[in-house]
Amino acid sequence: MDTIETIMTTRAIRRFTDQPVTDADIATCLQAAQQAPSGGNVQPQQYYVFTESDRKAEVARWYLAAFDRYEATLDVPREFRDERARRSWERTRDASRHLADTLQDVPVIVMVLQAKIPWQPRDEQGPMDIGRLDASVYPAVQNFCVAARSLGLGTALTTVIRVYGDEALAALDVPADKFEIAALIPVGYPAGNFGVAPRKPASAVTHWNRWGDKRR
Ligand SMILES: Cc1cc2nc3c(=O)[nH]c(=O)nc-3n(C[C@H](O)[C@H](O)[C@H](O)COP(=O)(O)O)c2cc1C
Repeated sequence: MDTIETIMTTRAIRRFTDQPVTDADIATCLQAAQQAPSGGNVQPQQYYVFTESDRKAEVARWYLAAFDRYEATLDVPREFRDERARRSWERTRDASRHLADTLQDVPVIVMVLQAKIPWQPRDEQGPMDIGRLDASVYPAVQNFCVAARSLGLGTALTTVIRVYGDEALAALDVPADKFEIAALIPVGYPAGNFGVAPRKPASAVTHWNRWGDKRR
């Protein structure tokens, strides 16, 4: 696929067909993920791939518990910009619930783990902010999703399982003192179509040379 088209049509997919996903395709996506940049080339991520039903069910149990709790905090916006915005919000709400209810049936679930390592250099002037460690993990996550898209596979970057992250890690035999969950990615062939998701135009959020100077 053309690279720009692949990126433009990589969006959250939460409804999947039953078509199996090959281990070889997952390995290709993981290799692409590993090529992502990281601060000082620290590469703090590890991947936990779930293809077996009982293992996926264990992950899905914690995802659902986390999503139920999170969803209860969500308010329906009082008003929407237009009818299209309202429908888009409702579609995302319904698709998110669907994913939470069916995660165990998604062909593959990839958990991206972030090592808990010291990440704040200090000198005589004190600690230095060099950016957060998770900034070194999400490029890999996005590489994974874009590579998957190029193979016709849908993904969604999700993080809500972090609500019960330690519990999920304990259930999956991951030492929670050494790792945290950066992302959980369902992977499968999409039930619908890939498309270009609505976003603010780049021109609306880009300043050229002087703050506030935007181009149409
Ligand atoms: C940091 C992050 C966390 C997210 N967590 C979740 C999640 O827990 N569950 C979920 O269904 N979607 C999650 N999403 C997906 C977003 O809802 C989605 O990217 C956004 O609505 C845009 O979707 P679109 O690309 O289809 O337009 C997350 C996305 C990001 C970047």
